[in-house]
Amino acid sequence: MDLLLPLTILVLMLDTPCGAFGKMGSNVKTAVFLSPKFELEPGSVANKFDYGVDFPRGHIALKSFNAEVVDELGNPVPLHETYLHHWVVARYYQAKNVTTHAGYDGHRVLHQSDYIMLRNSGICQRNALGQYFGLGSETRGTATDVPDPFGIVVGDPAEIPDGYEEQWLLNIHAIDTRGVVDKMGCTECRCDLYNVTKDENGEPIRSDYKGGLLCCYDETQCKVREGFEGLKRSLYLRYTVKWVDWDEFIVPVKIYILDVTDTVKIPDDSSGVLEHDCRTEYEVESFSSDKKDGNDYLHVKRTSVPMQKGGYVIYGVAHQHSGGTGSTLYGKDGRVICSSIPKYGKGKDAGNEENYIVGMSTCYPRPGSVKIIDGETLTLESNYSNSRGHTGVMGLFYLLVAEQLPHQHFRHASRSSFFTNINSLFE
Ligand SMILES: *[C@@H]1O[C@H](CO)[C@@H](O)[C@H](O)[C@H]1NC(C)=O
Ligand SMILES: *[C@@H]1O[C@H](CO)[C@@H](O)[C@H](O)[C@H]1NC(C)=O
Ligand SMILES: *[C@@H]1O[C@H](CO)[C@@H](O)[C@H](O)[C@H]1NC(C)=O
Repeated sequence: MDLLLPLTILVLMLDTPCGAFGKMGSNVKTAVFLSPKFELEPGSVANKFDYGVDFPRGHIALKSFNAEVVDELGNPVPLHETYLHHWVVARYYQAKNVTTHAGYDGHRVLHQSDYIMLRNSGICQRNALGQYFGLGSETRGTATDVPDPFGIVVGDPAEIPDGYEEQWLLNIHAIDTRGVVDKMGCTECRCDLYNVTKDENGEPIRSDYKGGLLCCYDETQCKVREGFEGLKRSLYLRYTVKWVDWDEFIVPVKIYILDVTDTVKIPDDSSGVLEHDCRTEYEVESFSSDKKDGNDYLHVKRTSVPMQKGGYVIYGVAHQHSGGTGSTLYGKDGRVICSSIPKYGKGKDAGNEENYIVGMSTCYPRPGSVKIIDGETLTLESNYSNSRGHTGVMGLFYLLVAEQLPHQHFRHASRSSFFTNINSLFE
């Protein structure tokens, strides 16, 4: 089987469609990679971490990242068979004098002292939501392009410490729901369906925790219908990265991920150090008619978080799970910064699976038109239908923010006709 499919497919080509700026659009490079293999059988869970995965190298600006689960023949696998709970891509510096080694599951790991994690620009606490990219079931139908002349700049040799090199970590969490007794319950990681009472580290899970990632860690098993037979199969995350080589015309964007579960503490003193507490997941209790708060069948969760540094919003998208009905990020004065609405599938095929979120709408404000002020407190609102209860849901908001617009970025550069064109487009 392996012979049919080299472990890494690398397709390098020049994109034909031109962006707003001929120069940049025509220089976009595309590569398609396969993640290391993971294996699933009916009801089983894979939560794999792979250090040092294939990724474009050098001083570049990332322009998009998309992914999907495929089988050994390269066929897309639908969500009702393999539910893609999430994939996450993180960046780190690895000491050059060390190498990855196989972990308990054969996937490549590194000793913690041998690398330096590089998190995005915030805003959660140290270890939470520091990824550069990450999506879930919606990945096939969600735009991730960074418009020209903006880009996520990585691989700057001037920033990489001596003795280190830049590497990428891929985390894939997938659940095989073929033949399970309750597909939605398994995808929502309901502890009773996994018969789990202790977490991955053997610590007892508190009794009021009904479901979420603590109950569907790597190699756990969701309940399968009696007598159901299904083969173990090998799967991959096929991911497509687009980028341009770095040059001075690229305007960098910062990545922020906001979480509706964040209960940030704003200090009374002037230390200015905010204590974020992003929990990533939350529970939506089912509607009960004796609780007359707000809309029937709508669970609304909100949090307010200060952004120490602001800028111009270039891209925005929310991440929600099944049951989600939309999410909005508001400025301090109540203006809408971005609204992102899920699209549900209507059929059986990969990319259009009924009852699953198969895409999230995105925001591409005209650069300069949506500004977050330094220190502004934003309010994030995440809505779910609560006609039934949901465990382990998420309400994240991913933002790309430019601290300068092109004409500001280029102010001191030479006055070629290229700049004049850019200036006239953005002023
Ligand atoms: C590898 O390099 C790092 C950073 O230069 C250093 O701190 C560490 O001691 C080295 N480790 C080994 C095994 O040589
Ligand atoms: C659930 O777990 C308990 C304790 O780990 C075990 O004794 C029991 O057999 C399991 N039940 C099922 C249905 O697997
Ligand atoms: C979320 O619910 C609130 C309160 O009902 C509503 O005002 C808002 O428009 C909803 N947002 C989305 C994106 O559906």
